[in-house]
Amino acid sequence: MKPVIAILEDRISAAMADATGKKDCAAQVKPSKDPRFGDYQVNGVMSLAKQLKTNPRKLAEQIVAKLDLSDICEEPEIAGPGFINLRLKPESIAKNLLEVNKDTNRLGVEETGKSKTIVVDFSGPNIAKQMHVGHLRSTIIGDCICRLLEFEGHKVIRQNHVGDWGTQFGMLICLFYRKYGDRIKKSGIIVSDISIPNMEVFYKEAKGLYDSDPDFASESRDYVVRLQSGEKGMLWGIWRHVCDQTMYFCQELYNLLGVSLTRKSECGESFYKNMLAGVVEELKGKGLAVESDGAVCVFPEGFKDKEGEPLPVIIQKSDSAFLYATTDLAAIRYRVSELKAEKIIYVTDARQQLHFDMVFAVAEMAGWDIKQTTDDGRQTTDDKKQKTEFVHVTFGSVMGENGKPLKTRSGENVKLKELLDEAVKRAKKVVEEKSPELPGKQKEKIANAVGIGAVKYADYSNSRTSDYIFSFDKMLAMEGNTAPYMQYAYARIKSIVRKAPEKGVDVDKERAKLDKLILAESAELDLAKHLLRYSEAIEAAAADYKPNYLTNYLYELAQKFSVFYTNCPVLVADSDKTPTRLLLCDLTAKTIKHGLSVLLGIEVVEQM
Ligand code: ARG
Repeated sequence: MKPVIAILEDRISAAMADATGKKDCAAQVKPSKDPRFGDYQVNGVMSLAKQLKTNPRKLAEQIVAKLDLSDICEEPEIAGPGFINLRLKPESIAKNLLEVNKDTNRLGVEETGKSKTIVVDFSGPNIAKQMHVGHLRSTIIGDCICRLLEFEGHKVIRQNHVGDWGTQFGMLICLFYRKYGDRIKKSGIIVSDISIPNMEVFYKEAKGLYDSDPDFASESRDYVVRLQSGEKGMLWGIWRHVCDQTMYFCQELYNLLGVSLTRKSECGESFYKNMLAGVVEELKGKGLAVESDGAVCVFPEGFKDKEGEPLPVIIQKSDSAFLYATTDLAAIRYRVSELKAEKIIYVTDARQQLHFDMVFAVAEMAGWDIKQTTDDGRQTTDDKKQKTEFVHVTFGSVMGENGKPLKTRSGENVKLKELLDEAVKRAKKVVEEKSPELPGKQKEKIANAVGIGAVKYADYSNSRTSDYIFSFDKMLAMEGNTAPYMQYAYARIKSIVRKAPEKGVDVDKERAKLDKLILAESAELDLAKHLLRYSEAIEAAAADYKPNYLTNYLYELAQKFSVFYTNCPVLVADSDKTPTRLLLCDLTAKTIKHGLSVLLGIEVVEQM
């Protein structure tokens, strides 16, 4: 179903062209901020009048004279310096809502006409370290972006750029040998039975020895060189085992968070190890990489340090080791040429901004972002060349209640697992207080949905570019823009339908009567209009990669439902009103459920 706003945009733009003889006019239809001025407003007349050096109000009159919107809107009103205000007709709202109702899977939201192949690089935990709160945002914001883009009809390729190839492996391997040497047979790989439930402790022990014991340190460095030069056998086996163990625990977290990542999406730094030398050679060959103080560097234009000196991207150190940036360059080349990415989205915190800006600049200099496609996907000549788009989606930090980055009392990063367990524990208390009568199993299920949902929703509902203060009390509150409020709103609507037989209402029979909606009360109209704007919220959230547009929409929906339900009885209404009101309940519940579970990955429960 084409969104109303898009239909209005098309028709009014055409009327503007018609009235002025100018091609490519843009009506710039926007939702009205104040309902007193109608539902939508046309902003594009003023700039058009300016271009034509004519009076904007007069121009608006001429445009309105060419315009027939009588099937959608009341008579357009010209306001202020040249706005056109539009108010939707109840009949057209009713008709569209019936269409939405028929579209059970997509709730009237169209797929995009132009589907793209989009790589989303997110989460990217580091091996041998536990995921901490810093990985929360990348993981869940990235997941939401994937869900939104997939729902829009794009082909999304998830890439978990795991940090699995750093120098830390030398010391881990060394420790592994010392600890389990007797169990590691020279001949075969038998490390797989050694489970490392707390990789972090293991990591810390290795780091301690590395810093205090010179023999350990030199042995470790030797292992790095051997591993990175491609030695197979035991060394490789231990490395693989440490990676597998870490990712096993990460996967548990992904499942707990309801994040759509599996090991299939894992494409860590090590994946690119054999491409790094080639990247350096290519950049040298193209005359872009030069030697500077023994290291190989590229100096992209426009990047300067504090002294105004050109800033390098170092791609190979003087000891010939490759760097984080080298791997990212290899990854770009691979994603553009092998994965055929038309867009690559990176979700990391804002501190990596400079890194990505510079890496993107180098990739552009190298010419890798050139990709040839046509509508039918054939290779073509140069004039159809299209650039792959890079997007760096950044986010602010999670802060403690003291306004500083969230840390444990001893000053360490807060482990994600501990944070989520605590959220579920606290949610259990809330459920216990609210619904003591429910069976224990059900209470547990609700506590899980509410606890995990609360952490995710709080993150999503804050604008991603700002820092936010992590507060269990706020995120678990039953009032305000929180997960439990939204989950409760959903469960409450479901309970209305559950109670219908008690009130002598046969819901199926009522639904069957539904051929025409009667939207008379302003609360009904208000709710109905908001339901029709779901696609606008999704489009805005996907376009700016901002989940909070979606949470805002859902929160407003729940509030509008609340006003409707207070003013318009559903089960004890005059019988001609019941079918419409049941449909409003039904669609509100479906929309909340869709938004939370399909797009945000937050569970709903039927009863709370
Ligand atoms: N492992 C990195 C970190 O923990 C994140 C990886 C981001 N992706 C990338 N292509 N560099 O900061």
